[in-house]
Amino acid sequence: MNHTALTGRTAVVTGAASGIGAETARRLAANGARVALLARRADRLKDLAAEIEAGGGTALAVAVDVTDQDSVDAGAARIRAELGRVDLVVNAAGVMLPNPLDDGRIDEWTRMIDTNVTGALRIIRAFTADLVAAAAAGGTADLVDVSSIGAHVTFPNYAVYGATKAALTHLSASLRSELGPRDVRVTNIEPGLTDTELGSHIDNAALGEAGQLGTMFDTIGALSPTDVADLIVYTTSRPRHVNLRHLVILPTHQA
Ligand SMILES: NC(=O)c1ccc[n+]([C@@H]2O[C@H](COP(=O)([O-])OP(=O)(O)OC[C@H]3O[C@@H](n4cnc5c(N)ncnc54)[C@H](OP(=O)(O)O)[C@@H]3O)[C@@H](O)[C@H]2O)c1
Repeated sequence: MNHTALTGRTAVVTGAASGIGAETARRLAANGARVALLARRADRLKDLAAEIEAGGGTALAVAVDVTDQDSVDAGAARIRAELGRVDLVVNAAGVMLPNPLDDGRIDEWTRMIDTNVTGALRIIRAFTADLVAAAAAGGTADLVDVSSIGAHVTFPNYAVYGATKAALTHLSASLRSELGPRDVRVTNIEPGLTDTELGSHIDNAALGEAGQLGTMFDTIGALSPTDVADLIVYTTSRPRHVNLRHLVILPTHQA
């Protein structure tokens, strides 16, 4: 990997408080990008920004709730004021809240749709003009959406999560038809099982980390967040005419 491959780029990474988003931010910064770190837990973001700065990188911690339009607007304004025009956006913020459909957990359905779909759209809305302007000025511009293998593979109890990820996958494909002709690359990444905090919010002991999800980790193993982050760095550091548009990354044992 060329460690200056992303020098001069300005990135926004959502979900940067943990897991795939945090590791992506680290790797983008290590490869020369200036990185805005977005999530709700400000303390986590501050610690990560300090770590990146201590390693010689540039990072800005911006506490943002992607389900709140005012929060996204304020965050975007601050990023532009402090880092300038953004040319790389990674939508990694997400929640996964499985439960039987019969339980009718509209609170969880709403949270997943607001975060995984509308939240990604709020970020896309905030930064698309920057991406288009960066590309028009001759630069490289990327939108990367972190979807899931759950967009294609059905699991009982994961119907709504899978539906949000299918929506994000389709959104990425459609946006590519609008943004590609303007030289903005759109990449949809679908990871399989990855060792992060994602399962820690499951409100069902039989399905959570001490139950079904834990058994999956034991039997098929998992990707590390670094595995996915490396793929994002590789993708965004290609020459500007090369768009890896749809990537599926799975642990080798996951069918
Ligand atoms: N782990 C897997 O097996 C797997 C597989 C396929 C796809 N994915 C996808 O990968 C993405 C990253 O998840 P992860 O696995 O890295 O899990 P994670 O460690 O739980 O990370 C999720 C991140 O999203 C942030 N977030 C959640 N709600 C938010 C909100 N309303 N506003 C702003 N940020 C919010 C969280 O930070 P705060 O709580 O501080 O806001 C956290 O940093 C998700 O979209 C997930 O669906 C994961």
